[in-house]
Amino acid sequence: MNFEKQIVCIGAGYVGGPTMAMIAVKCPRYKVTVVDINSARIAAWNSNALPIYEPGLDALVQNTRGTNLFFSTAIEQEIQAADIIFVSVNTPTKTFGHGAGRAADLQFWEKTARQILLHATNNKIVVEKSTLPVRTAEAMERILNQNTKNIRFEVVSNPEFLAEGTAIADLESPDRVLIGSQETPDGFKARQAIVDIYAHWVPRDRIIEANVWSAELSKLTANAFLAQRISSINAISALCERTEADVTEVAAAIGKDTRIGTQFLRAGVGFGGSCFKKDILNLVYICQSYGLTEIAEYWESVIRINEWQERRFVRTMLENMFNTIAGKKIALLGFAFKADTGDTRESPAIVIARSLLEEHADVVISDPKALDNAREDLKDVPTAISFETDPYRATDGAHAVALLTDWQVYRDLDYERIFQYMEQPAFLFDGRNVLDHKKLFNLGFNVFAIGKAPLKHF
Ligand code: NAD
Ligand code: UGA
Repeated sequence: MNFEKQIVCIGAGYVGGPTMAMIAVKCPRYKVTVVDINSARIAAWNSNALPIYEPGLDALVQNTRGTNLFFSTAIEQEIQAADIIFVSVNTPTKTFGHGAGRAADLQFWEKTARQILLHATNNKIVVEKSTLPVRTAEAMERILNQNTKNIRFEVVSNPEFLAEGTAIADLESPDRVLIGSQETPDGFKARQAIVDIYAHWVPRDRIIEANVWSAELSKLTANAFLAQRISSINAISALCERTEADVTEVAAAIGKDTRIGTQFLRAGVGFGGSCFKKDILNLVYICQSYGLTEIAEYWESVIRINEWQERRFVRTMLENMFNTIAGKKIALLGFAFKADTGDTRESPAIVIARSLLEEHADVVISDPKALDNAREDLKDVPTAISFETDPYRATDGAHAVALLTDWQVYRDLDYERIFQYMEQPAFLFDGRNVLDHKKLFNLGFNVFAIGKAPLKHF
């Protein structure tokens, strides 16, 4: 088949794979190839066991793979063939040298730029899909356009706003698609080429155009605002616990104000995921490097509250279980950072499990999709720790159950049965406020939720 355009995406991860699968489905006349240095990951994308779990992804990939969607390790060849190159490599927090613990580690990003430069033989549009510090496009253009091959590269910023667990729905019907470019004739032309891709299925009024720096900064700002709402409601949750106000009622009351809105007001054990913390740290670092100390401190406090909330949850467990959990079996229901994903990156469950283990608790971890990642996250832990898919087995003989991920399956459990097989007094800590607390209390549990008065039998 003769394709109108060839799109290549470098980086076959949580963003590259689903995003390109959606483009392939919606743009049948474009050839879409996803490449990666990780050959095991590419092999998994080409198999029936995709490397990531995301509802609806299997069907999307099956519909297009081998027709106009391809997964490959032939990076050199695919760069040469591409008209448009999306770059969706990981941009983690730097762990070494200047800016360690804050700045974005751009080594994968820069390697990609150099790879593109090395293999390209004609003009290309390079699209920043990864989340990057504002003004990265400048460095990218400098690297790419100082070539002696007489090739011109246009760098466009098109940050991704999908959330894990709902990635396919988010891609199918995004609130907005943001496309930023240089405001030059060539920049506008490149911008239009990216607009044309999304215009296949996204209503035109949801495709926002901007200058390249605004696009880059909007991505960091969106994540910072979302995380800030969670830290705000979690801060209020602590006050609720002292005053017998109920954080769910407070959230519902403030959320009815259309200026505030209802989303992202669920109090819990804290936010996790690969991006919120790293992107805020990145924002903090950028502010610091421009001498904006107060602004850096403001955003840093969002992370500080999140870490405090994780520690607070463990402290509540410890204090209410008579200040000792040594040798007590504690079942953690959920390890993924949110429901409907197997991803555990920065999951609050990691900190909570480690803190409980430090107290010498006997920890059993259960999760429908994240146990492989949980084993990997805790592989250095010398103490006995077990992993159990079946939540009934995980809670059998436990002193306490802590619900850490809002999987639907945990709402639907038979808690009467669980209660019968637990040690007494039985404790239930609902770290996501998703269970029926009064009902659990009536079954005999001592119930501790976030931002609510405890329901205790003693
Ligand atoms: P990921 O770690 O799942 O995937 C990145 C992939 O890039 C890996 O498979 C890695 O092998 C590959 N890679 C690294 N260097 C390479 C190179 N030189 N050549 C070829 N492949 C290379 O990461 P992710 O979660 O998909 O995130 C990617 C970017 O998207 C990050 O900047 C992230 O902040 C951003 N983002 C992520 C999400 C999300 O939900 N995960 C959402 C929006 C934006
Ligand atoms: C988030 C953003 O929502 C996406 O728009 C963005 O593209 C993405 O980060 C990214 O840049 O990686 P994601 O981390 O996948 O998506 O998931 P969210 O739904 O945002 O949840 C993040 C964390 O916040 C989870 O641990 C979740 O449980 C927690 N959360 C969320 C709360 O504690 N309360 C809420 O009200 C909402």
